[in-house]
Amino acid sequence: MLKDYDSVISLWKQGDIPYRPQGRDSKEDIRRQLRQATSLYYVAENDGVIIGVILGTHDGRKGWINRLAVTPAYHRKGIARRLVEEVEHHLAARGIDIVACLIENWNATSMQVFDRFGYTKHDEILYYSKRKNKRI
Ligand SMILES: CC(C)(COP(=O)(O)OP(=O)(O)OC[C@H]1O[C@@H](n2cnc3c(N)ncnc32)[C@H](O)[C@@H]1OP(=O)(O)O)[C@@H](O)C(=O)NCCC(=O)NCCS
Repeated sequence: MLKDYDSVISLWKQGDIPYRPQGRDSKEDIRRQLRQATSLYYVAENDGVIIGVILGTHDGRKGWINRLAVTPAYHRKGIARRLVEEVEHHLAARGIDIVACLIENWNATSMQVFDRFGYTKHDEILYYSKRKNKRI
């Protein structure tokens, strides 16, 4: 991943993903995360160029899909589906049968895509978090 770091950041920028370059998406922090057995990282490539990315994580109880993005020229070719299925497959192999993702409320495309993947939207849940600072 670290050799792919700049390509991945550029995908996240193109996809308007609100990534955290000073926090959990900094190179240093990604390096730390990828040392953990709880992190999964996959890219899709075409001719050696990265055109899709996904980060999977789990906490032993539930799996999470994070930072999914596909370069616009390759949208609607099933690349996100392949990446999500790959993460789901590896999580299932670890006994994790619940997979979740957080979607910004403005991201209608992502909501439609996850609907197509068979994910259920939970209107009754609000996301709360506690952070050491606003950058992370
Ligand atoms: C969301 C995103 C990753 C989807 O990537 P993709 O490779 O185009 O998706 P796929 O081709 O695998 O399509 C998956 C399913 O969603 C549907 N879909 C894809 N884009 C869609 C859109 N814009 N509107 C409605 N449905 C859509 C596809 O038809 C497909 O359904 P099907 O297999 O039942 O026909 C891509 O649009 C993207 O990078 N967006 C910007 C970043 C982003 O919002 N990421 C999600 C953060 S939570």
